[in-house]
Amino acid sequence: MRDDIRKFIFQDLRKIDGYIDPPDALVFLSLLQFQAASSFRGGIAEIGIYYGRSYFLLRRAAGPDGKVLAIDLFDMDEQPDGTLAQYQLFLDNGRKLGIPVDENLVIRGDSTKLRVEDVTGKIGKVRFFSIDGGHMLHHVEADSELAGAALADCGIIAFDDTFNPAWPEVTVGVADFLRAQQGLFTAFCMTKYKTYVCRSPFHDLYKQAIEQSPELTAFDHQPTRFLGNDVVRLDNPVGRRIAYELMSHAGLGRFSERIYR
Ligand SMILES: C[S@@+](CC[C@H](N)C(=O)[O-])C[C@H]1O[C@@H](n2cnc3c(N)ncnc32)[C@H](O)[C@@H]1O
Repeated sequence: MRDDIRKFIFQDLRKIDGYIDPPDALVFLSLLQFQAASSFRGGIAEIGIYYGRSYFLLRRAAGPDGKVLAIDLFDMDEQPDGTLAQYQLFLDNGRKLGIPVDENLVIRGDSTKLRVEDVTGKIGKVRFFSIDGGHMLHHVEADSELAGAALADCGIIAFDDTFNPAWPEVTVGVADFLRAQQGLFTAFCMTKYKTYVCRSPFHDLYKQAIEQSPELTAFDHQPTRFLGNDVVRLDNPVGRRIAYELMSHAGLGRFSERIYR
């Protein structure tokens, strides 16, 4: 079972164009498995699908009965006849991976225009909400407000591209959200690309889940302070990142998994 999902992350997901890499894929997996083991209930949602790389990981980790809501404009890849190929490529990727997209759980549109009922009406309260859509301040403001309102008590929000100098407004948006909530939500984990946030009473539990996850022992766990709270920062040394990229490009995806044990 553990080998199967690691094979999925290190080999199958590599075939889908997209942006989630092994460190965050292993954090998603650790948190979703911890929630399942703790009998924490709720749906899963993602804003920003692209071709589905992180969406299919969420689907795989949620299992056949898990409800995963996909939200995206799907307005990319305009063809000469004016049609848009992004959505079709997303559906094709699902068939290729043996995880067909449930189109009843897809919202094609602007996430900033959604109401909380648009999400909870489809999947109930949300236990894991990945935000990876528009990267300007107004997007992050609207998406974090939506996620915060739709979140189950035990829910987690994963913000993408925080502290990435290419997207400074994401960092501002996440800090604004946490400060406006006045301690109701806190960050408990950070990676090079993402910041993981939960309701404050769950902070210590999720921080410990990260610290004790068998999937994350390969990373340096750096204690970090962020807006008054202790956060585990998972550091992935540059040597390992280079070794992983070289092996993946040489078609050795199966062996690259061992680098992250
Ligand atoms: C960086 S990509 C997402 C990457 C994806 N999570 C992955 O694993 O590869 C950003 C996506 O956000 C979508 N997007 C941008 N602005 C949006 C908006 N206002 N509402 C919904 N989706 C949006 C884009 O269409 C694009 O597919």
